[in-house]
Amino acid sequence: GWKLKKLAERPPARTVTMRAASLLLAALVCQAAARYTPDWTSLDSRPLPAWYDEAKVGIFIHWGVFSVPGFGSEWFWWHWKGQEPPDPSCVKFMSENYPPGFSYPEFAPQFHAEFFDPEEWADLFKASGAKYVVLTAKHHEGFTNWGSPNSWNWNSVDTGPHRDLVGDLGDAVRNRSLHYGLYNSLFEWFNPLYLTDKKNGFKTQEFVMQKLLPELYNMVVRYRPELIWSDGDWEAPDTYWHSPEFLAWLYNDSPIKDVIVTNDRWGSGCSCKHGGYYNCEDKYTPGQLPDHKWEKCTSVDTRSWGYRRNMKLSELMDLPTIVKDLVATVALGGNYLLNVGPTPDGMIPALFEERLRGLGAWLQVNGEAIYASKPWRIQLENSTIPVWYTSKGSSVYATLTANPPKPSLQLLEPKTSASTKVTLLGFPVPLPWTPLQPGVGLTILLPNLPFTAAQAWTLRLDGVQ
Ligand SMILES: *[C@@H]1O[C@H](CO)[C@@H](O)[C@H](O)[C@H]1NC(C)=O
Ligand SMILES: *[C@@H]1O[C@H](CO)[C@@H](O)[C@H](O)[C@H]1NC(C)=O
Repeated sequence: GWKLKKLAERPPARTVTMRAASLLLAALVCQAAARYTPDWTSLDSRPLPAWYDEAKVGIFIHWGVFSVPGFGSEWFWWHWKGQEPPDPSCVKFMSENYPPGFSYPEFAPQFHAEFFDPEEWADLFKASGAKYVVLTAKHHEGFTNWGSPNSWNWNSVDTGPHRDLVGDLGDAVRNRSLHYGLYNSLFEWFNPLYLTDKKNGFKTQEFVMQKLLPELYNMVVRYRPELIWSDGDWEAPDTYWHSPEFLAWLYNDSPIKDVIVTNDRWGSGCSCKHGGYYNCEDKYTPGQLPDHKWEKCTSVDTRSWGYRRNMKLSELMDLPTIVKDLVATVALGGNYLLNVGPTPDGMIPALFEERLRGLGAWLQVNGEAIYASKPWRIQLENSTIPVWYTSKGSSVYATLTANPPKPSLQLLEPKTSASTKVTLLGFPVPLPWTPLQPGVGLTILLPNLPFTAAQAWTLRLDGVQ
C-alpha cells in the first residue's frame, strides 16, 4: 500500500516508463509478500475467506458404495474386513444375506443412482436455508464420485451410476448460489500403495505421490470447490501427506486461491491446531467461546453419516434438537454442517427432507439472528430457560430454545437504555418491557408465541449493550 502511495506523490517530471516499471516492481513486491510458504506458521496466518463465517449453515452429504449395503455405517467395509477382530454383526449380516466369497467391490455395480436428480437435491438444500453444500468426493473406501483417472474402475463413471456425481451436483448447487465444497479422505483403508507405505512406517510415499496428490490436484482444477473438507489424516503426519505443500499451492496458485476454505484434518496432530477453520472431532461441542473459527459437523441419523437401511425414527435428531444445536453452535462462533445420507438409488430419505425443510422454515423467520451474525459478549443465559445470544451490527438477538413457562420472560444480561426496543422475529409489533434493575436486565411481556415446529423463537433487542 504505502509504496503505491509514494509513487503517486512523485513529481510529474518522471517518465511514464519509469513509473510503469516502478509500479510493476511494487506489484511484484506486494504479491511476493502475500505468498504462503509450506509451513504452518505461514499457512495458519491466512485469513479465512469471508463467505464462510457469514454462511453459518451447510449440508453435508455422505454418499458412496457404502450406501449400497446401508448397514451399520459408512465404515461398514472396515468393520467387516479391516479391523481385528471384525464386527460380528457385519460378518453375520454378510453371511446371512450374500453368497460366500462376496467381496465389498461387488457392491459398486449396485450403486445405481437411477433416481438422482441434482436439481431436486439442490432445491431441497436451498429450501433448508443452507448456504453451502459438502459432498463426499471420496470416502475412506477410495471410491471416487467422479471419473478420477487415478482411481481406475473404482469411480462413479466407470461403474455404478456411470455418472459424474460430483460435477452434476456442483452445477445444480452453484446454480442456486450455494457454495460447493468437497470432502476428501486422505487415507484409503485398503489401497495397496497406502498399505505398503503404512508397513514402511510412512517413510515411503508411493500412495501420496502416485494416487493421492495427482487426484487431489486434478479434483481441485476440475471442480474448483470453494471448500475442501479433508479427513482420514490421523494415521500419518502432515509431512507424509505433503499437506503443507498442497495447501501452499491451494492458497497461492490454484484457480480458487481467493475463495477456498479448508478445515484442520491435514495430518496427525493437526486437528484443532492447524489449517483453516477447526472441526476438532466429529460433533465437536465446545463449552465456551473458542478463539478460532470452527464448525460442528453432525448427522440427522445419530448413528451414521452414510445411509442405513435399518435406521429407526428414534435414532434421528428431531427438528427442535437440530435447531437448538444450530443456535448454540452459532452463538459460540461456529458453523453448523448437517449431514444426510442419500440412498444408493439417489433419493434423500423423506424423513431427512422433512428435517431440512423444517430447518429452512425456521430460518426464513429467524435467519436474521444466524446468517452473518457474530458472537455477543455473553453467549448463553440460563436463568429460567436457555437463551442463546448472537449479534449483528447494533442488534442483539436472544433465541429461546424452549417455550417459557410464563408469558413474561426475564433476561438478566442486556444493559438497557431509554431507546431499548424488543421485537419478536415474525411478529408485527414491538413487545412491552420493563427494566429489571435500572439499566440492567429486562422483563419482556411475550405474546402467545406463534406456532413453529422447531420450538425456538428469537427476540431482537435494539438499543441494548
Ligand atoms: C441457473 O440456471 C438458469 C437456467 O439455465 C440460468 O438462467 C440462471 O442464470 C442460473 N443461475 C445461476 C445463479 O447460475
Ligand atoms: C439450563 O438450566 C436447566 C435447569 O437449571 C438445566 O437443566 C439445563 O441443562 C441448563 N441448560 C443449559 C444449556 O445450560
